[in-house]
Amino acid sequence: MFPAEIRFGVGTWAWGDRLLWDYGREYGKEDLTAAFRRYLNDGVRFFSTSSSFAEGDSERILGEFNARTPVDLLIATKYVPRIWHLRRSDFMDALKLSLTRLKLTKLDIYELCPPVGRMTIARMAECAAEVLDMGLVEQVGLSGYNAQQIDTFNEAFSRFGYSVACLEIPYNLLDRSIETNGTLDLCRSLNITVLAQQPLAMGMLTGKYDSEAPAAGSRRQMMLRYHTPSLDILLRTMNHIGLENNGKNCAQVALNWIYNKGIVPIPGTKTLPQAIENAQTIRWSMTKEQMNLLDTLTGKTEVRVPEEA
Ligand SMILES: NC(=O)c1ccc[n+]([C@@H]2O[C@H](COP(=O)([O-])OP(=O)(O)OC[C@H]3O[C@@H](n4cnc5c(N)ncnc54)[C@H](OP(=O)(O)O)[C@@H]3O)[C@@H](O)[C@H]2O)c1
Repeated sequence: MFPAEIRFGVGTWAWGDRLLWDYGREYGKEDLTAAFRRYLNDGVRFFSTSSSFAEGDSERILGEFNARTPVDLLIATKYVPRIWHLRRSDFMDALKLSLTRLKLTKLDIYELCPPVGRMTIARMAECAAEVLDMGLVEQVGLSGYNAQQIDTFNEAFSRFGYSVACLEIPYNLLDRSIETNGTLDLCRSLNITVLAQQPLAMGMLTGKYDSEAPAAGSRRQMMLRYHTPSLDILLRTMNHIGLENNGKNCAQVALNWIYNKGIVPIPGTKTLPQAIENAQTIRWSMTKEQMNLLDTLTGKTEVRVPEEA
């Protein structure tokens, strides 16, 4: 089971990533170090990464930070199946590489990405059970699985006597699809903790970006899915709710809305000011009326799929 006391975490896609997130230009190691330290000071100890982020550099940076702190972190990373992964040993090799980059001998949570080629759900369930049996992993989660895939994995995995701890999946005020496509209900019925990827819609919900002031670089294209005609009114409402709550900003309102749903937000963080703001998430709560207002405003929001996707 995912630890019940962990209600907030940190996403690390941008740690070391030059291509999409501009690491090394807009922000660097010093910014990440300051953000990491601040999170620890504020009691945040859950960090989620992936073997695929920045070609392993996100894991390396997190591993370096973890090695230097006495704080007991909860670390999740991901197994990303590749078309050339044919055998159980490919799964094992990928885990060992992640452990090396993270400077760990045992991983807290190994999240499995959706099946590819010979790495079917059944095979991954078998591999996951094996690494649990060997004591290399404490718990297993899933990432990006739909309800049907979760169900299939859970059935195969439970034959080994294990259960799924968590699911990482996009969830934010502009993408509430897990509420209606069966994913959230299934997770709740199976006691799987939901971790919200892209809780700030890649930055769109901070109010910093719009079609006239888009984000720089290749991220811009990916953020297009969050452009909706109702974005302006949503951001104005969030701003208003923030002002009614001792001057919280849009990012803080977006994260608190997720937190109040019993879902664990894992905002990507690049700098100290962002860590200071995001760590506040669990220390305040908007009112029921304010939650209802945001629910009503975004209930019918449709997420646009970029044309070339
Ligand atoms: N396939 C996968 O495995 C996958 C896919 C997506 C996400 N995830 C996980 O989910 C995590 C979160 O998603 P994400 O990083 O894509 O997007 P996000 O959390 O929605 O947005 C993160 C970005 O918002 C900006 N930001 C963060 N805090 C802010 C604040 N307080 N004020 C203003 N701006 C702020 C930063 O970018 P700027 O400063 O540049 O605006 C930051 O990089 C990822 O880091 C990753 O761990 C995994």
